[in-house]
Amino acid sequence: MSEWKGRPMGHYTVIVTGASGSAYGMRAVEQLLVQGHEVSLVMTDAGREVTAFELGFELPLEDPVAEVLRFLELTGDVSLRVACARDLFDPLASGSHLTDGTLVAPASMGFCAAVAAGTSTNLPERAADVALKERRPLVMVVRETPLSLIHLRNLTALTEAGATIVPAAPAFYHQPASIDDQVNYVVGKALDVLGVEHDLLKRWGQ
Ligand SMILES: Cc1cc2nc3c(=O)[nH]c(=O)nc-3n(C[C@H](O)[C@H](O)[C@H](O)COP(=O)(O)O)c2cc1C
Repeated sequence: MSEWKGRPMGHYTVIVTGASGSAYGMRAVEQLLVQGHEVSLVMTDAGREVTAFELGFELPLEDPVAEVLRFLELTGDVSLRVACARDLFDPLASGSHLTDGTLVAPASMGFCAAVAAGTSTNLPERAADVALKERRPLVMVVRETPLSLIHLRNLTALTEAGATIVPAAPAFYHQPASIDDQVNYVVGKALDVLGVEHDLLKRWGQ
């Protein structure tokens, strides 16, 4: 295990689904890499489409790591791996592959339903399923409004199983000046739950 700023470097999985708010997932990847952590990124098929629509970033099948780093304007010594949603043989599909935490950002209601029901049919759903069964940190930045009773029941089941639901609900008390500030706030709250050091939000009282 290597060290960064006195804290051990971790390995985190970031899952981007087809809910609105791809910026949350991409900002989380950026921040985790900047903080010196290893990141495995996987997008659902819908996540790829919504990311292309919202951010203008199309995750390619060929050399996806280079394209993600180019999009994030990251250079230098960072440790990123991009997995394919249909590759059920990927390390993320097994509990024997160790991770320090899994972040689903944004998490669609469909994704939440599949994980709550335990019916994983692709790699991102399986990776979240594995986090729960191994009792490892799973943070889900959910985005939908309004919520149906079915959504609420699924979010309750996920919480009961050990996940932490972090609604994509930006605050205003920190007086945001930009969309970036709003994105940083939500991602900062999610990283707080995972215990990841970051400089994304101004803390109340400091
Ligand atoms: C532009 C766009 C925005 C969407 N926003 C949301 C959303 O905020 N929340 C949600 O649960 N689904 C949203 N959806 C629907 C999901 O993409 C859809 O349910 C998809 O099947 C989810 O698949 P996944 O969970 O495998 O990514 C959106 C779809 C599109 C095209």
